[in-house]
Amino acid sequence: MEDELLKKIMLDLQKKLSTKRFNHSIGVMRKAIQLANIYKQDELQAAKVGLAHDIAKEMSKEEILNYVNENNIKADETELQNLGLLHGKIGADICKKRYNFTDDMCMAIINHTTGDVSMSFFDKIIFVADKIEEGRKWDGVEEIRIIADKDIDLAIIKLIDKSIQKCIKKNEIIHINSIQLRNKLIQKKDSNNL
Ligand SMILES: [Fe+2]
Ligand SMILES: [Fe+2]
Repeated sequence: MEDELLKKIMLDLQKKLSTKRFNHSIGVMRKAIQLANIYKQDELQAAKVGLAHDIAKEMSKEEILNYVNENNIKADETELQNLGLLHGKIGADICKKRYNFTDDMCMAIINHTTGDVSMSFFDKIIFVADKIEEGRKWDGVEEIRIIADKDIDLAIIKLIDKSIQKCIKKNEIIHINSIQLRNKLIQKKDSNNL
């Protein structure tokens, strides 16, 4: 896939991110293209958003707080307790200003961290691609890769289940957005099965 902006983002990320995170970004780009192809979404936009989604992931706590203050980013209480969650909102703001990403593209970056009930289909693709790209090796990822090609909502439910289990084990906060999204998707499935 040849595109000037895609090349520019790639060069920026190469400078900004560790090799591990850079490789993850390439993996998400590839998976996002695949899923966009299956679900008839814009492949080039999926590639750009998949590639750039973690652009703010390696900022220090101090850099995060400075960025939030200087750029008027609205952070909720959970995000302030767990600053890492803000890399979605900050990443979207960077991509809007530096790469002129559309609002829809930015929204997918914002929603890739915790998910949200308002997610579009495009957002869902990025959310799932982030968790199942080829570099992800966690137990059960293969099963979700197969589900994701057929039923993106079911893949999201299973991914949130997994992340809630991890939060419980590590005694971490579970963001309310993930729980609300899971509830919504389960209710939607139940009503479809009536
Ligand atoms: Fe991320
Ligand atoms: Fe990521």
